[in-house]
Amino acid sequence: MSERLSAEHEQLGKLATEIIARYARTLDAARVCSEAAPGDLEKMFDEPLPLEGTDAPELFRRFEREVVPHAMNIPSPRYYGLFNPTPLPVAVWADALASAINQNGAAWRNSPSASVIESRVLGWLCEIVGYGAGSFGTLTSGGSEANLIALKCARDRAADFVRDRGLRAAPLNASRADGRVDSRINSNAAHATAGNMIVYASEQCHYSFVKSVDILGLGRDNLRKVKTDARFHIRTDALRREIERDLEAGNLPVCVAGAAGATSTGVIDPLDELADLAREYKLWFHVDGAYGGSLAMSEKYRHRLRGIERADSVTIDPHKWMFVPFAAGAVLVREGGGVLRDAFDITPEYLSEERGGGEDVPFDFFRYGQLGTRRFNALKIWFALKTLGTRGYAAIIERQIELTDYFAARVGALEEFECVGEVETAVCCLRFVPKEMRDARGEELDALQRELQGRIERSGEAWFSTTVLEGRRALRVNVNSFLTERRHMDDLLELLGRESREVLKARKTL
Ligand SMILES: Cc1ncc(COP(=O)(O)O)c(C=O)c1O
Repeated sequence: MSERLSAEHEQLGKLATEIIARYARTLDAARVCSEAAPGDLEKMFDEPLPLEGTDAPELFRRFEREVVPHAMNIPSPRYYGLFNPTPLPVAVWADALASAINQNGAAWRNSPSASVIESRVLGWLCEIVGYGAGSFGTLTSGGSEANLIALKCARDRAADFVRDRGLRAAPLNASRADGRVDSRINSNAAHATAGNMIVYASEQCHYSFVKSVDILGLGRDNLRKVKTDARFHIRTDALRREIERDLEAGNLPVCVAGAAGATSTGVIDPLDELADLAREYKLWFHVDGAYGGSLAMSEKYRHRLRGIERADSVTIDPHKWMFVPFAAGAVLVREGGGVLRDAFDITPEYLSEERGGGEDVPFDFFRYGQLGTRRFNALKIWFALKTLGTRGYAAIIERQIELTDYFAARVGALEEFECVGEVETAVCCLRFVPKEMRDARGEELDALQRELQGRIERSGEAWFSTTVLEGRRALRVNVNSFLTERRHMDDLLELLGRESREVLKARKTL
């Protein structure tokens, strides 16, 4: 039996290697985006439930023939889309190794080496963001889950009875069921009556914050989206006013979240100032560094994150700016695993055997978050960090920022385009504003950006998204790939020039 298993792995592994190598070889020249319409693809895969088996190699060939050409070509050096990177080969194959041994990292007894490696990787990530000894965390499916976990910790810290008795079980100034006052409870709770728990983040915060306050029972209306300055950073004066207003209204301010690499703009909130405000008002301070947290590996740019090390929790996604394949996110907690266990610990009978390392072994990850079965995602991060080292990462990250600066400078010199905001990471936002449309209505300019993005998408020569800034559509270019070079940025500038002229020509003939 095991001979057969071995032979099958060898046969399929060779096929997979050949397909992936061919894919990598043609990556630069291939279309970034398929021309197929959803209906075409639905037709291609519109098949009955298979009753009989198909030859696996034939399915691999079909993958190459039908799936690859219609995939978004995320690993391409010409993909400038969301925070989705070209995955490092070492991390891709580490992922395959993890699948082969199929560890379930929920409890360390079921995954001894995997659990210890996850713990090691978390220790490294904590070190990267500047946390000290005693900090800990948990790997997640991505930044959304990481932000949710962080907000759960914040909610429980502000009012720990909510975990067991629910939001409506007691007014917010209730003490614990046992009558003792928990010194860790946010002292604002003493002033609050039946007010709402409030979370603060900038109007640029990721949508996972909206989902998280909803899931945690705090309510979407209780996420205060604080105004930003002209460069899209949270305004701390506006934040202070919002907090004061909530205190006056009898609400309970719970958490302030800063962005280290906001989704639309890549900019970094003034984290040190947010840390000061959080301390002043006794709020949980979370930093969403899902993307930009990796900047901490660069000595040259680390200062832009000053204050991140003061956060109670940090989200950092290795599947963004650390180039590991999906899925791999992480949430880190400065005070360590105890905070996560307070929020999530529960031990079912079948996992309650002797833990083999004492009560406080930080390897039983089912106690640290909401996941049960847990893939060995730590392996690809471990391989990636071991092969590149933080210095290797820093070199790539710095090159990507320099390419983005170069692109922004060239855009700034064009008459028909303008940069929106500034480059702080590897994101540049811009608008196409031709002379003849300088006085056009906002909606018309929005439509223009969409037309230009659509034409470039259809060209297959590059891909980037649009976003909305100051209420108006903008183009958003993010250098994601470690394969991207200056010539690709030159090609993109040439493409923007060519397609923008075509957009105007097409409008004139209407
Ligand atoms: C700043 C930020 N936070 C959180 C997330 C959510 O991450 P994920 O999509 O991995 O859940 C994203 C995703 O792009 C993001 O940009």
